[in-house]
Amino acid sequence: MTETVLVVPGDGIGQEVVPATVEVLEAVADFEFVEAEAGDHVKEETGEALPEETRRLATEADATLFGAAGETAADVILPLRQAVESFANIRPARAYPGVDALRPETDLVFVRENTEGVYKGIESEIDEGVTTLTRVITEDASRRIADYGFEYAAENGYDDVTVAHKANVMRVTDGQFLDAVEAVAEERSADYEEALMDALAMHLLLTPEDYGVVICPNLAGDMLSDLAAGLVGGLGLLPSANVGEDNALFEPVHGSAPDIAGQGVANPAATILSGAMLLEHLDYDEEAADVRSAVESVLADGPRTPDLGGSASTEDVTAAIVDRL
Ligand code: NAI
Ligand code: MG
Repeated sequence: MTETVLVVPGDGIGQEVVPATVEVLEAVADFEFVEAEAGDHVKEETGEALPEETRRLATEADATLFGAAGETAADVILPLRQAVESFANIRPARAYPGVDALRPETDLVFVRENTEGVYKGIESEIDEGVTTLTRVITEDASRRIADYGFEYAAENGYDDVTVAHKANVMRVTDGQFLDAVEAVAEERSADYEEALMDALAMHLLLTPEDYGVVICPNLAGDMLSDLAAGLVGGLGLLPSANVGEDNALFEPVHGSAPDIAGQGVANPAATILSGAMLLEHLDYDEEAADVRSAVESVLADGPRTPDLGGSASTEDVTAAIVDRL
């Protein structure tokens, strides 16, 4: 069976790093690539950042590779994540040999609940100068993310599982979250530690080596994973996956980087590593491992793009990765 991969480069450096990733994927697998449009440039032409056609193609594809959108990011990526019915946002933050990192011992994976919490969008102005936000935490979504997190840790060899929460203050909602995690851990006979999310932010900064998989409610996962990005040396290195029951979308954590767009110097590593996650999701485990080790070896030996202190182009780096494959 030939899997169909939808490719949505989007805006800015998305137009550079996504084609680079397709080149790498073509070197290891035989996918059918379908390309679709989204982002600021589409909105300028048609008035809509995410064409219905692109949304439909994402629901039909076996997986989607997304680059970045500019100002319209929220109008593009949130509906696309919904289109693939993703409930888990997986954000690995690893330091690589040869790359200047604040904490070279970092090897963390954030497993973030992707559908509820304070990002459910239930806000109102109940009176002049008085606004409210409703935080939604359900047993089902909490169990589902806990199950995914424990499974991910077991499959990928992480011994430490930490569950971030603030149940000392948000007693009902994070109490629900913790109860669900506990029930799932019991069923799986899995070990884990609970950590208050504010204190955890400090511990991740000081001793990241004590942590592995971090299971988080939505907002905590968003913030803690960006903190971890700072530990490993920059946005050009961070991949992510949005995973549903059947479908999934893969994207770098970075945006469209208008300051360097069009110059051919964007670091393609984040998107190529997202491509490795895509390969793994479609059960191309060996190919995924090959892509990862090719990226690691180029990060260690060069060529490197300017964000990592080098002077190579996106194309040079991509060619070096393909060469190692
Ligand atoms: P950004 O991630 O685009 O850029 C932040 C800084 O990191 C810039 O200096 C940029 O040059 C650098 N950078 C990012 N990726 C890089 C790479 N692969 N190689 C080398 N350097 C890289 O974030 P920023 O500047 O806050 O936002 C720019 C635009 O991107 C905004 O319009 C924002 O809305 C959008 N955005 C879109 C996202 C998405 O589509 N998922 C996510 C974040 C931002
Ligand atoms: Mg964020």
